[in-house]
Amino acid sequence: MMRLRIVAALSLGVLALNSQADETAEQAYRDFLQARGEPAWIGAGAEHPAANSVIRPTPALATFDLDPDKQALGFDLYHEARLSRDGTVSCASCHMGMMGGTDRQTVSRGIGGAIGSRNAPTVFNSAFNFRQFWDGRALDLDEQALGPISNPVEMGHDLDAVLQWLAADPYYAGRFATIYPDGVTAANLGNAIATHVRTMTRNDSRFNRYLTSGEPVLSEQELRGWQRFNDLGCAACHNGINLGGNSYQKLASARVFDDQLVPGVRDEGLFGRTGREQDRQVFKVPSLQNITRTAPYFHDGSVRSLEEAVRLMGRLNAGRELSDADVGDLVVFLGSLDSQSMGGMGGMGGMEGMGGMQHDMSGAGSPGGMHQHMQHMQQMMQMNHGQHHGNQEGF
Ligand code: HEC
Ligand code: HEC
Repeated sequence: MMRLRIVAALSLGVLALNSQADETAEQAYRDFLQARGEPAWIGAGAEHPAANSVIRPTPALATFDLDPDKQALGFDLYHEARLSRDGTVSCASCHMGMMGGTDRQTVSRGIGGAIGSRNAPTVFNSAFNFRQFWDGRALDLDEQALGPISNPVEMGHDLDAVLQWLAADPYYAGRFATIYPDGVTAANLGNAIATHVRTMTRNDSRFNRYLTSGEPVLSEQELRGWQRFNDLGCAACHNGINLGGNSYQKLASARVFDDQLVPGVRDEGLFGRTGREQDRQVFKVPSLQNITRTAPYFHDGSVRSLEEAVRLMGRLNAGRELSDADVGDLVVFLGSLDSQSMGGMGGMGGMEGMGGMQHDMSGAGSPGGMHQHMQHMQQMMQMNHGQHHGNQEGF
């Protein structure tokens, strides 16, 4: 019953149009994206009625048509601690498959225990974000991947020194040379790592299955939660493929975040890059995919439970005090965004086996990386992907 009501509501807009007009509009939209150089997956999946809701199904990994050699090289580099100055920190130190692609820390720690100021978002499905980082300062994953290497509180290395080392290392230099005509360059390093990160795409949540097939895989309570998610206006900001990751929005009130991790320094988000008053405390809306696995929450990791995060969102961004019943329904709905294949340490589900590790953490191909990485996991440290990145075209 509930399911029918939701499908009907979502389909309403579609039915109102005749399908030809619909196709023309879809084609026009794809042309528009193409003209902007946006990838085709943004318009993907629009065949299913539910796809015409503001929330879109997650495309299959195959959509990306990724080069397996680049991915394999990127995998090794992702786990390569020697990309950091003291050889202790790799990408995987802070973005672990078994922790939902995060480090489960309030804020991350980098080389020598350096403490950053932001919470590590998940790398899973980050390929679908319109920009990367909380303040969107990287345009895409290729650019993003170079940031942490030179960030003083993350990997703290010098990018040129890293490139020199890779070019002098027979193993890596050889692999770069077979894949990229111009061998070891910053762009190719970013591209290889980004290619691996793109493979950390999961589209097997029950919610996604429901969106793509309409199969009755969601419980009554999950459907009620989804209904509330739409009715309360959560979907106004958390929409698109990632239920987020596609716009900047204001964190409506700073009140809760007065417990600052770095005393006296408030994270002003987009303002830090643009200097515009209206951008104070504006952040990229985070993805809600796999949200039960990525606690703690918010840009400063200040909120530990999903219940509390949802309640705060109701108060701060949806403008109302949510009832306990609504919070419960919303949290249960958010649980349906959990990838079925990820494994690792689930949030609400607890330990669900370590399947995720296999893909994301094992077999670091080169010597050094994995061992150092495991050591690092015991000490855990952090960063703040530098304030020193230049502003990009647009924001
Ligand atoms: C010391 C911990 C640490 C290391 C090492 C690290 N990251 Fe991150 N990562 C973070 C934090 C914290 C953020 C958020 C920073 C910000 O928004 O300013 C982040 C953001 C990201 C994002 C953006 C996700 C989003 O939703 O915006 C991606 C993708 C990512 N990291 C991938 C990588 C890759 C690839 C590497 C290795 C080259 C790497 N990270 C190394 C902690 C780390
Ligand atoms: C006006 C836009 C907007 C609305 C409406 C909104 N959110 Fe958010 N949401 C955000 C932004 C921006 C953040 C990140 C804030 C930060 O970290 O400072 C966020 C963060 C979150 C987080 C934490 C995610 C993470 O990875 O840390 C959850 C969970 C969440 N929202 C759920 C909801 C729910 C449920 C609703 C509806 C009750 C909702 N949001 C309504 C913009 C919005």
